[in-house]
Parts: sequence; C-alpha cells; structure tokens
Amino acid sequence: MDALKPYLEKNKQRFLDELFELLRIPSVSADEKYAADVKKAAEFVKVELLRAGADKAELCQTKGFPIVYGEKILDPKLPTVLVYGHYDVQPADPLELWNSPPFEPVVKDGNIYARGACDDKGQMYMHVKAFEMMMKNDALPCNVKFIIEGEEEVGSVNLEAFAIENAAKLKSDVVLISDTSMIANDVPSITTGLRGLTYLEVEVTGANRDLHSGVYGGAVANPINILCDMISSLHDKDRKVNIPGFYDDVQEVSKQERDQMAQAPFSLDEYKKHLDIDEVIGEKGYSTLERVSIRPTLDVNGIWGGYIGQGAKTVLPSKAFAKISMRLVPNQSSEKIMKLFEAHFKKIAPAGVKVKVMPHHGGEAAVTPTDSIAYKAAARAMETTFGKTPIPLRTGGSIPIVTMFEKVLGIKSVLFGFGLDSDAIHSPNEKYGLFNYYKGIETLPYFYQYFTEMSK
Ligand code: BES
Ligand code: MN
Ligand code: MN
Repeated sequence: MDALKPYLEKNKQRFLDELFELLRIPSVSADEKYAADVKKAAEFVKVELLRAGADKAELCQTKGFPIVYGEKILDPKLPTVLVYGHYDVQPADPLELWNSPPFEPVVKDGNIYARGACDDKGQMYMHVKAFEMMMKNDALPCNVKFIIEGEEEVGSVNLEAFAIENAAKLKSDVVLISDTSMIANDVPSITTGLRGLTYLEVEVTGANRDLHSGVYGGAVANPINILCDMISSLHDKDRKVNIPGFYDDVQEVSKQERDQMAQAPFSLDEYKKHLDIDEVIGEKGYSTLERVSIRPTLDVNGIWGGYIGQGAKTVLPSKAFAKISMRLVPNQSSEKIMKLFEAHFKKIAPAGVKVKVMPHHGGEAAVTPTDSIAYKAAARAMETTFGKTPIPLRTGGSIPIVTMFEKVLGIKSVLFGFGLDSDAIHSPNEKYGLFNYYKGIETLPYFYQYFTEMSK
C-alpha cells in the first residue's frame, strides 16, 4: 500500500488526461444520434481495463448498448469485488446554459466541467485507475470483476436479462458502486438507501386538430388547460400525493432513524442560498432531508403542447403532453404505482378529452446494510483517507440495479460515492472536483485491503 500514494502523485496528470478523453465522447444513451459515440465509450472502457491489468475485458452485446465486462481473478478462494458503473450520460441540453461546451472538458477552480464528469464517468473511472494502481504495485489483495453498462440513464433495460444469463460469471461477494454523493468534502458519508422510480408520459387530446382560439375557445376542451387541472389535483394541500393507494405500501422509517437523520449536518439556509430560493416546499410533517430520501414524491419533468415559437399564435391545441416521475421508497412497487397512476389519471379525465398513459422505465428503492463487512471496510477506508468516520445517509436518487442485483445475484451493494449534491449532475455545468476524483482513487484500494482482511 505504501507504494500507491507516490504512484498516484506521479500519474495524476495522466489519470486526468485519460478521463478527459472519455469525457470528450458524447455517450448520450437517450438520443439515437449519439449511438456510435455510446459504443465508442464502451470500447474505450474495455481497452483501459485491459491496459490497467485485467486478464480479460470484453463487450457483451445486448439488445441495446454493450455491457463492458472485465475481470482479474487472482485466486478463486479469495473474495471477489464486483464494480458496477455506467459509461453513458444524460443529454446535455439546454446547451446555451453551459459556460463551456459539455463535451470539451475543462478544469476551472479545481473542478472538472463536462457532462458525465461526476455521473458517472469520473466516478467510474476512479475504479479503473485504482485497479491500475493496485495492479502495477502488486497490491491487489482479492479478485475483481467489472460490469460497466451504457444504459443506466435510460433505465438499465437490458441489464437484468444479462445478469440472469451470466449469474455464474458475475458471482461475487459485494457490488461496489461509486455513483452517489457525499455530504461535503470534509463530511464524508456513505449512501445507505436510494429511492425507486416510476416514469411515464401522458397525452391529453381534445379536438381532432388545432383550432382558432377565438372561433372555438371557450366551447371546446383545451387539453393544456385540462392537463394543468389534472396535474394540480395530484397533490393535496399538505403536498401529499393525491392518488388513492399511493402510500399504502410505504415503509415508515423508525423514529430512531429519523432522529439520526436530523443529526446529519445540514443547513437549510445554505441549501436555499445555493438554489437561490426563498423557501422550500414539500410534504407536510417532514424535514427537507426526509422529503428527498425517505418519502415518495410525484413531479412533472416536462410539459408541452400548443404554440411555443416566436411571437403569438392564437391557437387552441389539439394535444398536450407531460412527462411525470414518481420517486418511491422501500416496499412500494414501481409496477403497482404505475397501475395506480394510470387508473387514477384516466378516472379524473373530464368528458371532452381522451387520455393516454405511456409507461417508461422504473425501478425499485433500495436499502443497503451498515452492519456488513463491506460497509465496514468502506467506512474504514474513508476514515483512513479523510480522517473522519463517514455518516450513513439515505438519498433521493435511483439506481435500480442495486435491488435487481440483490434479487438476481443475491449480492448486496456498497454505495461508495465521492460526488457532491452541488455537482449539478443532469444539469448544465456538471462538474466533479479534482479533490474528489483523486480522493476516490486514493481511497478505493483501502476498501479492497480492508474488505479482504475482514473477510478472512
Ligand atoms: N447516479 C444517478 C443516481 C444518483 C445520483 C443517486 C445522486 C444518488 C445521488 C443515476 O445515474 C441516475 O441518474 N439515476 C436516475 C434513474 C434512472 C432509472 C434513469 C435517476 O435517479 O433519475
Ligand atoms: Mn449515475
Ligand atoms: Mn444519472
């Protein structure tokens, strides 16, 4: 282990240059225009795994984008770590809000700015570099397998079938994932829970064509007006989701865990300041941290219809659309919530419009253990490099494969993220701190060491 720190120091610039190369590939999985780039990113990861010292690295074809699988098996009797990450990224729009082009990474004020800098190329690539460091310094203490996919941002639709088919090949003792955030660079934390997700699109149709809003307005349903009415009825005055049965399966969190959450360092003033808002809004009876982690929610992600070009056009549109997501908590089923939504949304549609509900992807919430060897090894690794014990904390984002891996492979995960909530993932000007990138690379080998020691 002593050799690793000097190795990291010596190779810092190259580690950054390589990440930049990966960040320059616009691997946007949601947009077919980038399909060739998504494949290029997969190829890049495969080549780098081999160069870092993997015995084997391959592109596994799926119905969608390839899954990169790599491994280094020292001895089947040793423990095995399965590293999961994703090489695809979210679309970069709106482009005009970026201070520098999203696929031309730059370092500014100690941060790497680029789409995917944090989510998840920067965090995933830390694993490749930590692996290289261990390989080149004879410090890898156990077996490691890599599964790096290219469809995380579009729901990991082909990963479950792959996991089922390749269960034997993926057999491991823990899944190690860096795709979440910490509280702050001087307040390390480990994520212990993620929310689930139900994502869908709705379409409301009025008349069979766009109409003159003077000639017909007032007499025929305006689907945009109706859609807005319907959407606003989905929350009650306490900001609870107003869909019958929505809360039926929600697992309430114990008073003890809520008390513990209340102890986590969090400043509402700073939170508001950072977002430039004068007040927070959410479900009555819960704190901000609770609202974004242990409570289910419903949000409109996009809404459109009618005329949005320059100037004014007097038109009563034929159709209105919205994309809606619901974040779910443990014990809620994403499929059941989809059905509840669909039934309710159709029921509240007034006569005069037709309503369609089109399901997108979904996934289940997850809770990860804090009493496992793997969690303890991760906590000790952070203690070693940050000088502080990490705080266990649930978060609001979703990584559906955590529950899927547990179900299909019987393996639990450690959510060992090094990002910050302020990294603006999925937003313009996504960034990742140089501190975080290098700290992650420095910390990961300790995880391997402690995990192997503690597994004996
Ligand atoms: N890495 C994120 C999830 C995340 C971010 C978890 C921050 C915790 C903290 C992941 O890439 C992501 O964006 N997931 C999607 C869900 C997916 C099914 C598209 C999400 O949470 O919206
Ligand atoms: Mn991610
Ligand atoms: Mn993401």
